[in-house]
Amino acid sequence: MEEKYFIKTYGCQMNVYDSQRMAMMLEDMGYQKADKQSDADLVLFNTCHIREKAAEKLFSDLGRALIIKNERLEKGFSTIIGVAGCVVQAEDTEILKRAPFVDFAFGPLTYHRLPQILNDIKAKKTAGIVDTDFPAESKFDFLPENKALGGCSFLAIQEGCNNFCTYCVVPYTRGVEYSRPVADVIAEAKRLIETGTLEINLLGQNVNSYHGEDEKGVERNLAYLLNKMAELDGLKRLRYTTSYPADVNDELIACHKNIDILMPYLHLPVQSGSNKILKAMNRRHTRETYIEVVQKLKDANPKLEMSSDFIVGFPCETDADFEQTLDLVDKIGYIQAFSFKYSKRPGTPAATMDGQVPEKVKKERLDVLQTKLFALQDAFNQKCVGKTFDVLFENLGRHKGQFIGRTPYMQNVHALGSSDMLGKIKQVKILSATTNSLEGEVIKNG
Ligand code: 5AD
Ligand code: SF4
Repeated sequence: MEEKYFIKTYGCQMNVYDSQRMAMMLEDMGYQKADKQSDADLVLFNTCHIREKAAEKLFSDLGRALIIKNERLEKGFSTIIGVAGCVVQAEDTEILKRAPFVDFAFGPLTYHRLPQILNDIKAKKTAGIVDTDFPAESKFDFLPENKALGGCSFLAIQEGCNNFCTYCVVPYTRGVEYSRPVADVIAEAKRLIETGTLEINLLGQNVNSYHGEDEKGVERNLAYLLNKMAELDGLKRLRYTTSYPADVNDELIACHKNIDILMPYLHLPVQSGSNKILKAMNRRHTRETYIEVVQKLKDANPKLEMSSDFIVGFPCETDADFEQTLDLVDKIGYIQAFSFKYSKRPGTPAATMDGQVPEKVKKERLDVLQTKLFALQDAFNQKCVGKTFDVLFENLGRHKGQFIGRTPYMQNVHALGSSDMLGKIKQVKILSATTNSLEGEVIKNG
């Protein structure tokens, strides 16, 4: 009987990409995907360390995994439990102290070693393997070819971060910035398109500081890469995430004018609207330079809409600082956003700063900010009613005959149709809207 795997992914899109690549490696080894965790011979948790809650979730899930492992053992089945991702990089061997039944753990930069690790465990050569190297080799050179799993695909082009925002663990868990060579990115993109993808989202923690080498060894920036991607036959939609405001240059802005497959939606995290807080966060932008960049982007493409990340309750944030954030939200008018209470991360400078904000105040500020952000999102969605959008269908809906896709603005759209529209773009007229999704009818093929 074939062995089965189950992967649970926490956190960011980079983790989703990494999990997809690990799944492909396992399938190359002969594993099949399990529908549920209790059917799996291999359970892998791909973890996130960005906020305390995300990391704590892992340990409660591991507790459940041990129960399932024991239940399976009673029925005569063994289970390998592995942990991947940023929690491993941060906690290192501590993970085995808290969860000694974990068979192996590796950080985000060494998951290409998964087949070797599994072989070693199965040959009983080792147990409790922890691999938190920052290896000299790039994992991307050792992964099997990527292939499309649907109409939309992620493609990691850059990893790690040199920005060291004072609240953030990423530079410690994903390491220094690394950009994949242009030719590797293009080859992976071609393979994704050949296997059915219509939309590619180029990923990186700080994607717009991309500086991969071309065939001649010349360093190229994100704008160069976007132009190369736009030349690929069959690619209908292009996105890139996540960008750092201070690294948006004029060439990149021009892409939003000149590349018609570049979607009119940009996630550009501002974090705070207060210059005092931005400085304490070690962000290299001010509210003024951020507003200026957004204005230039909107001048390049008047249809462009923005999304952002926000942190409330960063150390020393006063009511007046928070008001500045609310004011910035009004000025930019985001159509979507993610907002978080500041969470102390061990080893980061902000964790030991004076002026930590009480939990109650953080919660109140988050409620106020989210009410404002949801109202903006809802207003944008309502404005879409009666309009027609190209929608790329990706998933089955909850009701029979219902499918879920995304507009160029990343809104979820529910529409009736048939399963042959999965992975395809259709024109959809929007009939109604809520804060979180749109309802529409397919009017013709896109
Ligand atoms: N506390 C709260 N939010 C954080 N983020 C990153 N680190 C922290 C932290 N310590 C948020 C930022 C970032 C997003 C991915 O997560 O807003 O853009
Ligand atoms: Fe973290 Fe800042 Fe780098 Fe983003 S830019 S990954 S928030 S350090």
